[in-house]
Amino acid sequence: MSDSKYTRETVLKVHAWVPDKLLSLTTTRDASYEFTAGQFARLGLPASHAPNQAPSIWRAYSMVTPPLQSDTLEFYSIVVPQGEFSPRLAGLQPGDALYVDRTAFGFLTLDRFPAGGDLWLLATGTGLSAYLSMLQDPATWASYDRIILVHGVRTVQELAYRERILQWVNSGLPEASELPRCAQLVYLPIPTREAFESMPMARLTHLIQDGRLESLAGCTLHAETSKVMLCGNPDMLTEARQILKTRGFAVGRRGNPGNLALENYW
Ligand SMILES: Cc1cc2nc3c(=O)[nH]c(=O)nc-3n(C[C@H](O)[C@H](O)[C@H](O)COP(=O)(O)OP(=O)(O)OC[C@H]3O[C@@H](n4cnc5c(N)ncnc54)[C@H](O)[C@@H]3O)c2cc1C
Ligand SMILES: NC(=O)c1ccc[n+]([C@@H]2O[C@H](COP(=O)([O-])OP(=O)(O)OC[C@H]3O[C@@H](n4cnc5c(N)ncnc54)[C@H](OP(=O)(O)O)[C@@H]3O)[C@@H](O)[C@H]2O)c1
Repeated sequence: MSDSKYTRETVLKVHAWVPDKLLSLTTTRDASYEFTAGQFARLGLPASHAPNQAPSIWRAYSMVTPPLQSDTLEFYSIVVPQGEFSPRLAGLQPGDALYVDRTAFGFLTLDRFPAGGDLWLLATGTGLSAYLSMLQDPATWASYDRIILVHGVRTVQELAYRERILQWVNSGLPEASELPRCAQLVYLPIPTREAFESMPMARLTHLIQDGRLESLAGCTLHAETSKVMLCGNPDMLTEARQILKTRGFAVGRRGNPGNLALENYW
């Protein structure tokens, strides 16, 4: 094995969900690369003025693919127009190189919680990424009664992965069909700036506060039985955490597993 801290992977596929704004990128995966669903990779590119040099710009990207069931890696990315990294990532074509740190990072993983009860996965924007890995991991389906996936976005177009998620809602995850216990998946796609089906045009923080999220999900957010994850916009995390605190939700501390876990994307 090379002693380099990173591997050179090859881009296999690029899919634009919203041109110049949202894309997914699939790469090769080094055989030794291991991670837990919910963790993120550090992706690297060389400086733009030195494309043949070693990678020098690194950014965190949650894995979309599941840990064991895929020999490729997939990432879901926003393009920040003034950003140093994401416009370059969006410009990659099949065959191009993308560097991946050999170590996977992050604690937005289900081993933070005891199994059982309902799992609420709340995301804004690309915060969905980490949950897609969990939802493709049969272990997640085996661990909860219900999984409630809430995806808050600005516009309907930004509801990436909707078709695939709806397949899981309707038929479950094929790999999980043999499990003795298999969760029911509830999916709430919620654009805030455009009407979509019968969904309210409201931020998920407001929907938690006024009880509508529970009505939409058909179950209660109960500190004894629910586990909540928050991922995406840091303001959303701060506000949702505050609201959930009043309902008995807290991040785990040593000796106390907690019922809340979060990951800021910026
Ligand atoms: C743990 C972790 C996991 C992450 N996973 C993902 C992921 O799966 N997909 C992804 O697109 N990004 C993810 N990010 C953000 C990512 O690392 C980069 O910040 C992002 O791609 C923009 O890079 P940039 O160099 O172009 O701009 P940066 O200089 O890094 O960011 C500039 C500004 O863009 C905005 N911004 C950054 N990221 C986002 C975002 N994801 N959505 C909306 N606005 C944003 C913020 O206002 C930020 O200050 C993650 C970040 C962290 C810390
Ligand atoms: N989407 C676009 O058309 C657009 C346009 C210009 C720039 N950008 C770039 O994209 C980035 C934003 O990306 P994004 O649209 O994926 O992320 P975002 O701004 O975080 O919005 C995603 C979802 O999160 C909601 N949200 C924002 N703050 C919240 C809070 N405090 N509490 C609860 N919900 C909250 C938004 O609701 P609201 O709709 O109510 O804000 C929206 O539904 C910007 O940093 C900029 O670089 C995007």
